[in-house]
Amino acid sequence: MKFFIDTANLDQIREAYEMGVLDGVTTNPSLMAKEGIKGTGSQQKHYVDICKIVQADVSAEVIATDYEGMIREGEELAALNPHIVVKVPCIADGIKAIKYFSGKEIRTNCTLVFSTGQALLAAKAGATYVSPFVGRLDDIGEDGIALVARIVEMYRYYGYETQVLAASIRNSRHIIQCVEVGADVATCPLSAIKGLLKHPLTDAGLQKFLEDYKSING
Ligand code: G3P
Repeated sequence: MKFFIDTANLDQIREAYEMGVLDGVTTNPSLMAKEGIKGTGSQQKHYVDICKIVQADVSAEVIATDYEGMIREGEELAALNPHIVVKVPCIADGIKAIKYFSGKEIRTNCTLVFSTGQALLAAKAGATYVSPFVGRLDDIGEDGIALVARIVEMYRYYGYETQVLAASIRNSRHIIQCVEVGADVATCPLSAIKGLLKHPLTDAGLQKFLEDYKSING
């Protein structure tokens, strides 16, 4: 399973990349706002800065919600760097835009997906990635991982090439659940990636090894 980091924070992207386990980056307008990146020029520069850190897919989201606007913005974003994947919301004009981008060999990530029906339309339009939002479904008492599992099963059954990119991952348990249901990618906060490392038996075992080494070697 590929690991993407879900942030626009350059330090966190660098830290995850330097761990050697990062396969890509996803951003969204909320994550850009969190970093205080304002205005089209600044946002485009920020995407270029991210692409300088990681030689891997970087999802950059369109702001327009109409077909023509999405095409214009998506083409501008895709021209910034070959690693840019244009992130498009799962609405009618978005599906149409994904179909257009697919014909132009511009890669896309269909975002804000909360149902198998939405994922079906994204795949039929030729999306490179589909992003079911796990945590936000859990937040309203639904089962986000179950949706990821249903989409994985549907795509395998019909042979769709769209990759299932589990988004809105909130913790390390979510990552393990994504592995269990066969997601292609999980995009995660840095804390959830680092959380995978934590185990009290590792800490206790390491401490004992060091103590035993010192007891003999001084
Ligand atoms: O990739 C989408 C993701 O950023 C949404 O996460 O935690 O805001 O639901 P969250």
